[in-house]
This record gives sequence, structure tokens and C-alpha cells, in this order.
Amino acid sequence: MTSGKRGPRRTPPATTRTARGRAKPMAASSQARTGRFTDPPHELVERFTASLPVDRRLFEYDILGSLAHCRTLERAGALTRAECRALLRGLERVRTELREQRFPFAASDEDIHMAVERRVTALEGPVGGKLHTGRSRNDQVTLDLRLYLRDHLRMAESQLRDLQRAFLRQARRHAGVIIPGYTHLQRAQPVLLAHHFLAYVEMLERDRTRVRDAGTRLNVMPLGSGALAGSNYPLDRAFTAKLLGFPAITQNSIDGVSDRDYVAETLGALAIIMAHLSRLSEELIVWSSQEFSFVDLPDDLCTGSSMMPQKKNPDVPELIRGKTGRVYGHLLALLTTLKGLPLSYNRDMQEDKAPLFDAMDTVADSLTISAELIRRLRVRRDTLARAMSSGFLLATELADYLVRKGVAFREAHGIVGRLVRSCMTRNIDLSGLSPAQLKTASPHFADDALSCLTLTGAIDRKNLIGGTARRQVARQLKHWEARLASTPARPPRPARSRG
Ligand code: ARG
Repeated sequence: MTSGKRGPRRTPPATTRTARGRAKPMAASSQARTGRFTDPPHELVERFTASLPVDRRLFEYDILGSLAHCRTLERAGALTRAECRALLRGLERVRTELREQRFPFAASDEDIHMAVERRVTALEGPVGGKLHTGRSRNDQVTLDLRLYLRDHLRMAESQLRDLQRAFLRQARRHAGVIIPGYTHLQRAQPVLLAHHFLAYVEMLERDRTRVRDAGTRLNVMPLGSGALAGSNYPLDRAFTAKLLGFPAITQNSIDGVSDRDYVAETLGALAIIMAHLSRLSEELIVWSSQEFSFVDLPDDLCTGSSMMPQKKNPDVPELIRGKTGRVYGHLLALLTTLKGLPLSYNRDMQEDKAPLFDAMDTVADSLTISAELIRRLRVRRDTLARAMSSGFLLATELADYLVRKGVAFREAHGIVGRLVRSCMTRNIDLSGLSPAQLKTASPHFADDALSCLTLTGAIDRKNLIGGTARRQVARQLKHWEARLASTPARPPRPARSRG
């Protein structure tokens, strides 16, 4: 869009009458002040209350809602056929202007709703004044926001899918690779790299269902709630809902204009997505460090240092981790805004949009770039193999060997712990112990004891649902391949709704 809020006034403004009866141009901010006020709003108030810079991105949804509202008004007998047609035409003309970024915003446009109405009136004449019949900005804005979220949550879902697919492809590519699994960032037990990647697929699946769930709950049509009490016109709300593709309509007009739960739920879901992406980022940062060298990040997704020529910095995952705080902040901001509000609509609620939009944008960008990072991640099998050789990753296997020989697990834990300690002082691995040394530690160690100390053995013994055994992971890979393949193609991008 070209002109900002304070852009040049190029349209012939509508007129109103002053107290003395003189005709004067009617600014959008005066559309809400006709008659009751003698003075125009203070310039400071105009600027302070305006939400246009934030909500102009809702224009597609605002116009969709208005088109449906006009048709509902006609059906209710509140507009003649000709009036309805003129309004529909005006709305479409305005939509084209907005899409082509030649909509003449006026300094006095308080929000996108007023701007559109002002412009319809400028284009179609006084019939534009009928557009807002039986409607309030209070039900209009929540409709717009629900329409916006319906689109954007669907998009987030499909981006989550893309990231899941990227993990799945990497899991398949490195199906046999074993890595040291960590707890407390200390080497713990061997696991399949594919198992590790599939853990992210699981997390992202929960994100996806959370997003879908939020999208389902908010898919309710609020128009007809009016300012708070409903409407004096016999609006066929089911008809409006059908036009806009809503499966349900709100059942209480007060709640209809007050409810922002769906914004909170969305921000909650987005915050958890960021928590996941941030954990992933942390892992990429650690894994790509020279100390680990488990993976290489693609060069073109990294940055250099302005001073140190040798540096290849993981700024992208660092920024995802950093932006996570911002999205958490948005959730807290919204919840705090809502907590003191009496029913029904209060202007405070206008503060819902900036955090919501920023969180949506941040999550969308973070998902896109995370998928790119994972798709092109280079796994360093050489360093991974070396990493497997130390850290006593198989100590638990030895303890479980004793359990199979009838030793209580707690006792076995102690025996192997002591063996680990003695290996550490002698700087050898468990496999370096002799059968005699093992037998001294416990008479239950037979000659075959050390044969349990293999990586594949350790992996394949975890052969239960959810375990890292090759058989189990292969089943999971198959499961996710079928599941992620059957998802319908990516939904269309919402039209030009940013900025
Ligand atoms: N721009 C407002 C919002 O985002 C909608 C306008 C409702 N204003 C009012 N005075 N009732 O919530």
C-alpha cells in the first residue's frame, strides 16, 4: 500500500453539517462522531486511538465480511436490491484499490473499517452510509480477526507439515545412523538419529493439532452481535455464516463482541511452537559447534563475523531462539490486556492485533527457515561415530545383563557404577575390562558378558513401542510417511494480508 495513514487526501470527502449548518468535509474519524459532538477530535486523540497502521492488513477480510453483511441486509429488507448492488460494487472497487495499493488513505482514517466505509461512500455516494446498518465495529472487528486467523492458522499448519517432512526425509536418509543420546547434556545411551529426528516430528504434530484445534474453536460467526446487544434488523445470521463459510454462529451477543479467547489460544499455540523451534535451534547451535561437530549448517544460512575471518555463525537458529521471547511476550501482553476488562467490548481490545500479527509473522518466518535448515542439514557421520566410542554409553546394557542373570537392578546399578569408576581411573572403556575383572565385580558375570556391549545390540534391545530399536523406528518412519503423504496440498496463501 502506498500512502500511509497520514498520506495525501485525494478523494472528495463526504460532507457533514456543522452546528451552524455549514457544509464541511467529513473525515473518517467524524463518521463515528456525527451529531453528538460539536468539535472535531483533538489531533492527539486521533493519533492515539487510530489502529489503521496495524489493522489495514485485515482489509481482505473486512471486505469479505462487508460483502456478506450487505447481502444479509438486503435479505432482511434493510437494503433495496439496487442499494445492495451499489454497495457490493463499491466494496469491490475499494478492494481493487487496496490490492493494487492505490487506496487513498486519509489522515483521519481511524481504522480499516472506517477507511473502507468512507471510501465506499466517496465512490458510490450516500448509499455508502447504509453499509454499517445493523452492525458495529465491535462485531465487525472480531469477524475480521476470525477470518484472518482461519487463513493464517491453516497456513501455519501446512508449514508445520513442511518441517515435519524435512525431518522425515533426514530420518530416512540416515536411517541406520546411531548417535549418543543425551540427558542433562551428558552422554546417556545410544539412539538412532532417525529416532531423534522423529521426536521433533511428534512435537510438531502436537503443534499442528493445537493449531487446528484453535482454528476449529474460533470458526464461529459473530456478526449480528452489534455493539453488544444484537441487532434491530432481522438479520439471517445463518445466511451470513453460510456466505462466509462458518459452520456455526455465536449464541450470545455480549460474549460475541467480548471474546478474545481465540486470540489467546492462538498465541498460546504459537508460543509452544516457538518453544519447540527454540529447542531445535539450541540443538543446532550446539551440534554445529566445533566441540560437537555432529552437523554442518548450510553456508548460505549462516553468517560471518565482521572481525574474525574464520567464523561461521549460526545466527539464524540464534535468532529463532531470540524471537521466542518476543512471542512469549505477546501471549503475556494479550492475557494482561484482557484480565481487567468488564464485559463487553472495551477499546483496550484493540491492543490484541499488534501482538497477534507479530507473533503470526514471527512463527511463519521461523517455520519457513527452520524447514530450510533441516532440509539441507549435513550430518557428520564421521564425528558421530567417534562420539560413540566414549562416555560409557553402554553401561546400562551391562547392568541389564546382570538383571537378566537374576541380580536386582539397584544392585546391578551399583556394581556397574563401580566398574565405570575404575575404568575412568584407568582410562579404558567397559569393553576393555577382562572377564576376570568382571567376575571379581560380580560372580554373575559369565564369559559372554562383554558381548552385550555393542551399539546395535543396545539399540535393538529397546524393542518396544516408542523404543529406539531399528524395527520400531522403521515402523515409525513408515507410519509418518503414510501420514504426511496423505495430507492435502498446501492451502492457498492468504491474499496480501501483511503490512
Ligand atoms: N479498531 C477497533 C478494534 O480493533 C474496533 C473499533 C471499535 N471501536 C469502538 N469505539 N467501538 O478493536
